[in-house]
Amino acid sequence: MIIRTETNSDYDEVFKLNYLAFGNREDESKLIERIRLSNEFIPELSLVAEINKEIVGHILLSKATVEGQGKKSIVIVLAPIAVKPNFQKQGIGSSLIEEGIRRCKALGYGILLLIGHPSYYPRLGFKPARKYGLELKQFEVPDEVFMVYEVENGKLQEINGELKYPKAFFS
Ligand SMILES: CC(C)(COP(=O)(O)OP(=O)(O)OC[C@H]1O[C@@H](n2cnc3c(N)ncnc32)[C@H](O)[C@@H]1OP(=O)(O)O)[C@@H](O)C(=O)NCCC(=O)NCCS
Repeated sequence: MIIRTETNSDYDEVFKLNYLAFGNREDESKLIERIRLSNEFIPELSLVAEINKEIVGHILLSKATVEGQGKKSIVIVLAPIAVKPNFQKQGIGSSLIEEGIRRCKALGYGILLLIGHPSYYPRLGFKPARKYGLELKQFEVPDEVFMVYEVENGKLQEINGELKYPKAFFS
């Protein structure tokens, strides 16, 4: 398996992959299309996992802000991530997240946030975000599904306030 940056020619396959992984719905595929067209898109943080030239997984990490105490910090949000149904539970999702984290670090981003399954992400180092002074008001979610990963040591102490997902998440 290789993990590489997504290119324009992958777009159709990535659309279909997300459609399948999310139970034959287009919401996540369309979210990806909106994010790609937005200012929050970072091309190096849209990754595909490929086996024998077939795209079997995709992850998108993009920019959002945390706002509080008169300060606005740029952070990264993970959404969505998908692995083809017949390739799940083989570590592909974890590999995509780990490579995403490495790239966030290389690009100098401090924290990574997401809304996701509380049984999946903690094993990769994600922690409940509200415990660290981060808030989410745009979506009503239980504490354990709103999670954060500290990409750069010390940044969890430095960045606090409300996570604001950009416009692309609401169209
Ligand atoms: C969530 C998702 C991306 C995870 O991808 P994945 O490749 O299946 O994830 P992993 O293989 O890394 O880990 C998943 C499980 O497989 C297990 N696993 C990891 N490597 C494994 C391996 N080599 N062999 C067997 N099992 C393995 C993990 O322990 C985990 O077990 P669990 O059943 O206790 O949760 C995938 O299930 C998916 O696309 N789901 C539908 C879309 C979705 O819900 N996306 C997330 C919301 S944005």
